[in-house]
Amino acid sequence: MFSTLRPSPADPILALAATFREDPRARKLDLGVGVYRDAAGGTPIPRAVKRAEAMLLERQETKSYLGLLGDVAFSAAMADLVFGGAGPAARIASIQTPGGGGALWILMALAKKAAPEATVWLSTPTWPNHGAIAEFAGLKTRAYRYFDPETRDVDAAAMRDDLKEAGPGDIVLLHGCCHNPTGANLTMEDWGALTEMALAQGFTPMVDIAYQGFGDGLAEDAAGLRHMAARVPEMLVAASCSKNFALYRDRTGAAFALCASEGEAAAARANLMTLMRVSISMPPDHGAATVRMILTDPALRADWEAELGDMRGRMLALRAALAEALRARTNSPRFDFIARHRGMFSLVGATPEQVTRLREEHGIYLIGDSRMNVAGLKEDRIGEVADAFAAVGM
Ligand SMILES: Cc1ncc(COP(=O)(O)O)c(C=O)c1O
Repeated sequence: MFSTLRPSPADPILALAATFREDPRARKLDLGVGVYRDAAGGTPIPRAVKRAEAMLLERQETKSYLGLLGDVAFSAAMADLVFGGAGPAARIASIQTPGGGGALWILMALAKKAAPEATVWLSTPTWPNHGAIAEFAGLKTRAYRYFDPETRDVDAAAMRDDLKEAGPGDIVLLHGCCHNPTGANLTMEDWGALTEMALAQGFTPMVDIAYQGFGDGLAEDAAGLRHMAARVPEMLVAASCSKNFALYRDRTGAAFALCASEGEAAAARANLMTLMRVSISMPPDHGAATVRMILTDPALRADWEAELGDMRGRMLALRAALAEALRARTNSPRFDFIARHRGMFSLVGATPEQVTRLREEHGIYLIGDSRMNVAGLKEDRIGEVADAFAAVGM
């Protein structure tokens, strides 16, 4: 049977990571792969995660099955973290998932069951996996304009114009914060306008929130989502703990379906359980149990929030420093957008040739579309990166 298979294309980001590993140059700099890095270049485990894991090791008495929904106390704590009380809890069906990717997949599969003809609207550009997951779930996709290559901010007018065509049964996928790959984010005004459009046109927003706390703060990064959740009848939310709890490989996330009524939420929950059963049966426990302990223990939570604040502060400082260095090198405010953007990424606007030259001549690795992982920068190498950008003609 396998003779029918053709090799599928390698994920370009994972392929770049392999090229980086094999690069023998000591001063190479990885600004490609999307994991947070500290000043030493590591991706540490937060103190609160370490402490919660130690407590878990001590206290956990069984590893017997938890059930199809996973750890319901984890999902409740996550609902609180994400929705902050917006959107009545009784109308939200929640399920623990393997990461944000697992949440996206199960929500797309739920949408396919509920509205087989649904079209998923995706920002141009977006995280490539969005389209891949939607299509794998059997849904159609369409693009809406989002990023203005001139201003390097959101082109809100073009976005609204394209989304006028989204109708009942369609899904509009939005990034809750820290847009990947652009770094350009919706303002509260944009969230307000999109909320009104969802109400008037009847589409269902799906919010992917994979970087809560990496932009301006835990509440600030969810403010748009919360505004929407308090007003729309239906909404889907995929949340990831991979970045803000640094639990990447432990596959921790949650999916939420905000429904028009408690009855519909019960039906959505039952369908999410069935989808879990037929796909992976049950979600993995360790990361979710760790997050539940952190979110429900005031001391652990305070420590996690403080460390997350340090990570966020580091990225904001690196953004400011690089924008400043580029202003000096180019004698222009062209790169000020780097300081305006939020989260781990900025699409810096290098051509594919310039991306190649940065890698080959300067050992600086960006993704091919010129996505830069700000967290990969090092405080003492900002000048060097700015020089390299200038040297390749950016
Ligand atoms: C926009 C976006 N959504 C979702 C995810 C899912 O992350 P994970 O499945 O590792 O939690 C990522 C990870 O890179 C992402 O960038």
